Amino acid sequence: MAYENIRLEQVEPGIYVLTIDRPKALNALNSQTLAEMDAALSQVEADEGARVLLITGGGDKAFVAGADIGEMKPFTAAQARAFSQRGLRVLRRIETLPVPVIAVVNGYCLGGGCELAMACDWILASERAVFGQPEVSLGVTPGFGGTQRLTRLVGPALATELVTTGRRIKADEAKAIGLVNHVFPHDRLMDEALAQARAIAANGPVAVRLAKEAVQRGQDLDLDNACVLESEIFGLCFATEDQKEGMGAFLEKRKASFQGR
Ligand code: CAA
Repeated sequence: MAYENIRLEQVEPGIYVLTIDRPKALNALNSQTLAEMDAALSQVEADEGARVLLITGGGDKAFVAGADIGEMKPFTAAQARAFSQRGLRVLRRIETLPVPVIAVVNGYCLGGGCELAMACDWILASERAVFGQPEVSLGVTPGFGGTQRLTRLVGPALATELVTTGRRIKADEAKAIGLVNHVFPHDRLMDEALAQARAIAANGPVAVRLAKEAVQRGQDLDLDNACVLESEIFGLCFATEDQKEGMGAFLEKRKASFQGR
């Protein structure tokens, strides 16, 4: 599939960068962009050598300024529901992608953009980043998971405040409320994200995938069952050559050479 609204690059072995690239519309998510993202996720998922995916916005102003308001304006209720379901499906694919996905938020991160960032495993933000769920100012609610993921991340009181006032928050406040893991000077954002990506890529690839899966699947379980899941996954690691290599390398005081099996 030739992409018009996104770019997918493997910038280093196993490290992919997906750029939402419609800067004239501040990278707003329309149906075509969602379809291209879906195809790009399939490409990453099909690569057994994939280690990590970074998602960022093209241009110097926005990560993603929301779902495309021009496309949505004439929607019927049924079309809006289908559009919401399409967005939710793509975002759920990010959440359940076998490798970690980091949102590299380089500017406006509003509405569907904030929802996209929250579907990633964590968020790194530029000092210039601005977050918010302003949908109510357009007479609608969030439709790509904002009411649900924001609540899980920051709790119901703050989530309700943000989705009913539509108030925009800067990167430092987003970090203070637990939406963002780290804030970096704008010019250093991608380098810092790549440094994290390299750290992930240097670890045991099977263990990294299983660690993400344990966090993802465990969240919806009670603690007893979540801990059962963890011990099953921990046990599974010992069926890999990487476990023997990783522990052997530690004991032999050398750097591990993981094969991803
Ligand atoms: N959809 C479509 N186009 C958008 C857009 C969006 N979400 N956000 C920005 N654009 C377009 C603008 O229409 C403008 O296009 P033109 O140059 O053709 O007029 C261009 O991007 C630049 O935008 P501005 O001129 O508005 O730039 P600014 O610097 O003055 O303001 C902004 C930046 C504060 C981010 C402002 O663009 C804005 O408020 N955007 C909308 C944010 C928003 O409401 N997002 C939620 C969308 S609804 C949603 O996402 C629903 C859901 O949950 C699924």
